[in-house]
Amino acid sequence: MVQLTLPRNSTVTEGKVWDKPEGATNLREYRIYRWNPDDGRNPRVDTYFIDADDCGPMVLDGLIYIKDKVDPTLTFRRSCREGICGSCAMNIDGTNTLACTKGMDEIAGDVVKIYPLPHMAVVKDLVPDLTRFYAQHRSIEPWLKTVSPAPEKEWLQSHDDRVKLDGLYECILCACCSTSCPSYWWNGDRYLGPAILLQAYRWLIDSRDEATGERLDNLEDPFRLYRCHTIMNCSEACPKGLNPAKAIAEIKKMMVERRV
Ligand code: SF4
Ligand code: SF4
Ligand code: FES
Repeated sequence: MVQLTLPRNSTVTEGKVWDKPEGATNLREYRIYRWNPDDGRNPRVDTYFIDADDCGPMVLDGLIYIKDKVDPTLTFRRSCREGICGSCAMNIDGTNTLACTKGMDEIAGDVVKIYPLPHMAVVKDLVPDLTRFYAQHRSIEPWLKTVSPAPEKEWLQSHDDRVKLDGLYECILCACCSTSCPSYWWNGDRYLGPAILLQAYRWLIDSRDEATGERLDNLEDPFRLYRCHTIMNCSEACPKGLNPAKAIAEIKKMMVERRV
């Protein structure tokens, strides 16, 4: 019989309410998804309080406050704290975004609600397993491929050709777009998803690259490319303001153009 409910060990339960910091002058509540593969317990949502007067203004600052002062077991990724490394991507207030560039004052309600990026296996707490995502990135061979003899100094590119990479090279591979894409949720094992396809397009239109035909062959597949149904969640989710849906449409156009 079809099972329409979640297995009991995967339902999210109410977690612990942690003590408020002593002497806090400006309390802010955080509700955070917790799951530890080693303790055999269900996932839960813990409640924490931070003192916003003793903490930076970004959601990531609050997480660091909690880890430093309240609960050192809370696990999340971060590195650059300025929207460059992509490692602090998570679901905040119902939207996939970067914790380091999301201000606490941008949260709609009083409570900051944080979950891992959706529809990915969880390693622990807010850390998603990105193994498949990175393997997919590798599969598009994201490096310059040439057959011409290498120039003495460097591969040159005209200013106009360089400008064609704007809106693409800025991608930080945070996965906010792919994990907001319904097609990727359901077919992520075969569909490359918006982030990787934007990267693929970045190499397809690089004037210095000489593997365009081979790259298109690699994408010519009912699943790898054609599972995009132009739902546009990806472009709305991108914290860098990029437009993966447009890049995907451009790849599809290149596919048609090479057939005629
Ligand atoms: S436009 Fe395509 S890639 Fe973007 S969310 Fe929709 S289906 Fe996914
Ligand atoms: S396109 Fe935007 S959301 Fe997607 S991986 Fe790149 S930076 Fe992140
Ligand atoms: S910590 Fe690097 S993007 Fe947020």
